[in-house]
Amino acid sequence: MLNLVTDTFGKEEKKAIRAVVKSGYYTYGKQTIKFEKIISKKFKKKYSIFCNSGSSANLLAINSLFYKKTNPLKKGDEVIVPGLSWSTTYFPLQQCGLKLKFVDISSKTLNIKTDLLKKAITKKTKLICAVNILGNPCDLKEIKKICKKNSIYFFEDNCESMGAVHNGKIAGTFGDLSSHSTFFSHHISTIEGGFVLTDDKEIYHICRSLRSHGWTRDLPPNSKIYKKKKDDFFEKYRFILPGYNLRSTDLNAAIGIEQIKKLDKFISIRRRNAEVYNKLFKNHEKFDIQIENSNSKSSWFAFPFLVKVKYKKILPKLFKELKKQKIMFRVICSGNILNHPVKKYLNYSVFQKLNNSNRVHNDGFFIGNHPTDIKKELYKVKKIFDSLN
Ligand SMILES: Cc1ncc(COP(=O)(O)O)c(C=O)c1O
Repeated sequence: MLNLVTDTFGKEEKKAIRAVVKSGYYTYGKQTIKFEKIISKKFKKKYSIFCNSGSSANLLAINSLFYKKTNPLKKGDEVIVPGLSWSTTYFPLQQCGLKLKFVDISSKTLNIKTDLLKKAITKKTKLICAVNILGNPCDLKEIKKICKKNSIYFFEDNCESMGAVHNGKIAGTFGDLSSHSTFFSHHISTIEGGFVLTDDKEIYHICRSLRSHGWTRDLPPNSKIYKKKKDDFFEKYRFILPGYNLRSTDLNAAIGIEQIKKLDKFISIRRRNAEVYNKLFKNHEKFDIQIENSNSKSSWFAFPFLVKVKYKKILPKLFKELKKQKIMFRVICSGNILNHPVKKYLNYSVFQKLNNSNRVHNDGFFIGNHPTDIKKELYKVKKIFDSLN
């Protein structure tokens, strides 16, 4: 039996939940503020904004660039995106009126191809959205350099790759801002949850306001985005931005405080499982696997497989057998989002072709990785692969 998700809660998380319930205060409060401080320290970024999902973190991050004084983004601007990601990497971009330019991925790392990305940049490009796929960092150092050279903002969607490292630096800390998910099946879980990281104080304040109704209540008195008035009746209910309510709760934050203590241990177990994945499947006759990017240490969200052309016909039999043996599997991320009906709502162009993204969509699947030893299950999968013709 191998699931796509595991419960990683121990007695510590349950105790933390009980303590919040006992306190009688559940929503945004002390625990959230404490969790944010811990996150910032852990990921070595000045500011973090905890919210109710990784999708919400994307929404906050992208929106914030529309309200910064220097106006980095406006409707109609072009954003470069990879041909493979999760749906809500793309949707906030669309909802903000940006034009998506899709660039193909490498069939090895599954990340955006940096050489193509370079060629796809035009004067209209105002944002690059790089997504670290399934724990594997993109060429983050190089992409940061490209962005700097071209005065383009760099947004890193790190929702699948908490704890990964590139060139000795933590993934999710290269971009001007980045998003993270703490959904149940991810590297740490707050059940639902996510956060934005940035070193930019203005972006931080904008995100805090956008997260809570667009009000000023969560801003310090001397914020650059709004100077609060003293003893003003309206100060608790002053609205400066067309915001949302994307807050999480102190219950989720209290869980996060316990989970983040376990992150390094969780990742080292995931990496041990990855050693077995690599050993068993690296030169497999029937499948290609994800290759860790150079100078990177993946945090191995899951174990993807791409069936080789010659063996495509075995997929239906394989899926049947995996199901029978209770090995759960699924589509890799969202596959290519342009192969979904939602495409009709997207304002987009494709740079050259999305051949590798389509291959992942049509010929790929992944099985789960977990912060527990799954060696036995990986051997079982190998046996199933080898037995089919
Ligand atoms: C790349 C990427 N971005 C964003 C998200 C959204 O995160 P959440 O499920 O917490 O909303 C996910 C979710 O798995 C993801 O894989």
